[in-house]
Amino acid sequence: MASAPNHGAPNHGAPNHGAPNHGAPNHGAPDLEREKEVAAVAAAALVENGMTVGLGTGSTVAHLLPALARRRVSVRCVATSPRTQDAARALGLHVEPFGDIERFDMTIDGADQVSPEGWLVKGGGGAHTREKVVAIAADRFVVIADSTKPVPRLRPPVPLELLAFGLAATMHRLGPVRRRDVPLSPDGGVIADYEGPFDDPAILAAWLAATPGVVGHGLFPPELVSTVLVGRGEEVERIDLSGSAGPSGPAGRS
Ligand code: 5RP
Repeated sequence: MASAPNHGAPNHGAPNHGAPNHGAPNHGAPDLEREKEVAAVAAAALVENGMTVGLGTGSTVAHLLPALARRRVSVRCVATSPRTQDAARALGLHVEPFGDIERFDMTIDGADQVSPEGWLVKGGGGAHTREKVVAIAADRFVVIADSTKPVPRLRPPVPLELLAFGLAATMHRLGPVRRRDVPLSPDGGVIADYEGPFDDPAILAAWLAATPGVVGHGLFPPELVSTVLVGRGEEVERIDLSGSAGPSGPAGRS
């Protein structure tokens, strides 16, 4: 069984997917919680009255929720995890099931790694399957991150969600995969990490997506990403990408 994996750059440490943690200052190192907060506040400022908003999962999103609640805009939200749903509702945000909503005006979520090309590794909190569904349904997918998340190149682990049926066979086929010692996803999936080396995320993403038994993987292509907001000290670096909704189907997107 794996312990909590480190999906981030050096200093990221074990992901903190709980409430914001404003601990004691750590002598010269960036205050990552503050960087997450400034990125989250900048993202909340993009949300306008009447929008439908997808809410991601994780410690950066934990800063987004109060920032969004403070805006006092009227928005319809869908959460990618029970913990985001509970936290958002506790702050008075209107969270609906992902039933009738076909499109979101905006989805806002964190990331474990961001490559220079805009590829993401997500899923440190194991919510990557739902997060990708909500990201791809959005007109704008905004990523919020502290300054350790941009990396020169992506590296393992890549989070996976696997079908429980045939798990041993699927893991055998995938090779270097480690099951995480965490509960099943809300959809009954087994959370694991692909730990093999890779050069081209597109090739790995295509292979994982084509492997039966893989429900979802944590590689998000740049075509999905509209904007990355990176907290750097008290400043926010904004990186705009062309993405809005990912690849279209064989008949194109309507
Ligand atoms: C959860 C995710 C998170 O967005 C990602 O792990 C980043 O988390 P954090 O904001 O806590 O650093 O993908 O599945």
